[in-house]
Order: sequence, then C-alpha cells, then structure tokens
Amino acid sequence: MAQFIQRSHEDKSGIRDELISGLLATQATTSPKYLYDALGSKLFEAICELPEYYPTRTETAIFDAHADEITASVGSGRTMIDLGAGNCAKAARLFPVIQPAHYVPVDISVDFLRDSVETLQQRFPAMEITALGVDFSRPFALPENVQPQQRLFFYPGSSIGNFTPAEARAFLRGLAASCGADGGLLISVDLVKASDVLDAAYDDALGVTAAFNLNLLNHINRELDADFDIRQWRHVGFFNPALSRVEMHLEARTALTVKWRGGKRDFTAGERIHTESSYKYTQPQFVALLEESGFTGVRVWTDPRGWFMVCHARGQRKGD
Ligand code: AVJ
Repeated sequence: MAQFIQRSHEDKSGIRDELISGLLATQATTSPKYLYDALGSKLFEAICELPEYYPTRTETAIFDAHADEITASVGSGRTMIDLGAGNCAKAARLFPVIQPAHYVPVDISVDFLRDSVETLQQRFPAMEITALGVDFSRPFALPENVQPQQRLFFYPGSSIGNFTPAEARAFLRGLAASCGADGGLLISVDLVKASDVLDAAYDDALGVTAAFNLNLLNHINRELDADFDIRQWRHVGFFNPALSRVEMHLEARTALTVKWRGGKRDFTAGERIHTESSYKYTQPQFVALLEESGFTGVRVWTDPRGWFMVCHARGQRKGD
C-alpha cells in the first residue's frame, strides 16, 4: 500500500500569520499556494482542459513526441520525486517509459493527493509509492526511505514560474545539491510569446480561471474566519511584458471592508490583491538559470511553435 506522510499540519498559525501580513501589506498579496484547496485543485484541472490554456496540452505533446529521447536522457529505475504532483497524471503518463522504482509525489493539497494516489496505486500495484503532504516552496526533508542515489526530480507544468527568477535560482540550487551527479531534474517552463496568447490563457472566455482565482477568497474565509464576499471582487489576469510575467489579481468592485478574527482591511474601489505571478522565460534565459543553479548537461525539447519547453539536466557533484 502507498505510504502517506503528512507534514502540512504545519502550524495553522503560520498560515494565518502569512495570510494576514499579505492582506495588510500596502500592495495586498497572497501566495499562489492558497489557490489549491480541494475545489481550487479541481478548478485547476478544468483550466488544463480550456482551449486557451495551451501549457498542459503543449507539454503533453512534447513528452509524447520526444518520449524516447527523454527516457534515454533520464534513465529508468529512478526515484521519481514529483513536485506539486496534484492528480499525478503527468507522472503516470511517463511511468510506462521511465519506469521509476519508487514514486514520491509531493503536494501541499494533501486530501487531493490522497485520492489521486489511491487510484494510482490500484493502476500500478507493484510500484513503491511514498506520498508526502508538504509545502515544498520552503525547505523540507525527504522521508528516510527516499534513497539519496538516482533521484529524478520532476517539476512539470511550468510551476517554476510561480517563483521570481531569484527565488527560482535558490530553489533549483537546492534540487541540484539534493539529486547529486547521479540524479537529475526533468522540468518544464513556459516560454515568452505574444501577449494576446498569454492574456487569453489567464483570462479565458468561460471564466474558469476567474473562478479559480476568486475561489481563493473562499479558502481565505475558512483559514481566517474572514468575510470576503466573492461577488464584490473581479478577476484580473494579464501578461506584464516589462517583468516577463503573467499577473493575476483580484480587484475590488466597490469600496469595501474585509474583516477576520482579530483584524480588518479597507479596500478602495479598484484596489487589487496580487494573487499570482507566473514568470515566462526565453529558452536561453532558462538554460542559463539551470546552469547558474548548478545543473549540467542541459537538454531541451520544445514544440513546433516554441511556446513551451521541457528540460532535463544532471545535478551537482558533491563538493562542487
Ligand atoms: C500551475 C503555476 C503553472 O501559472 O500557468 C493557471 C497556474 N494560474 N492559470 C500557471 C495557473 C492561472 C499555473 N501553474
């Protein structure tokens, strides 16, 4: 049976403090990880089906088109550590070719992960699975049964885009050290492209991304005993070329006050909460970022339009 290790009992008071200080900042901000409560994770799955949201389907096409080369580069029998595993679908699609010896899905949304892993273990009864419920955006320890050799970190979906480039470098450095020279990283990144394509991907016609963003307020209401009224807020999502990132915000439709246990904040009409940044890179920028982070032997695969990129790189020799 799959083993579950739950570390996101991570003090609820830490979550409260982080959310409240973000809400009280001059430019109100919340971490994108709060988008993924149980409903948020389902809405994100729906986003991946949208015609405008090209990343998921483009990534799948790259994995399919280059499966042999990617497998040859990555190797089989690895310990595959899936960062932000969610429904585990991306890893599961690679199992037949990559054939990991041990699968370690990591996700902050533990209840969602639990359902995914139970189904997965039924499909792959022989595979050793150790599921870890943890916020991996902060330093975390891998369970003791995760061997240090032959680690393959898997970080698909362009989730690296949620970090600023400086944060991404620090995060990738940690992975390069943790996987070592006999291990590696299989990572995807979304590439810079025409603004109208990016704008539509993050502000779709059906309003699914709007629902995903607004649902954050429901999550905050539960975490803080707050009284956000969803109908008083509007989704805003657009590409900011100067910073090479998509930004999502929630904008107050009118002047309003939000209260929570122990505090409150006034918002003027049009004032925004910055809820997510999703950085976009050029191919050379991202390869340079991997190399600056200690990875070597970077290989890249992209789609015919050059919209999205999958990379494999080897980790760092101990002591380097
Ligand atoms: C999961 C961070 C890769 O930035 O495209 C999708 C999240 N936000 N639509 C992204 C997201 C709005 C997604 N990542």
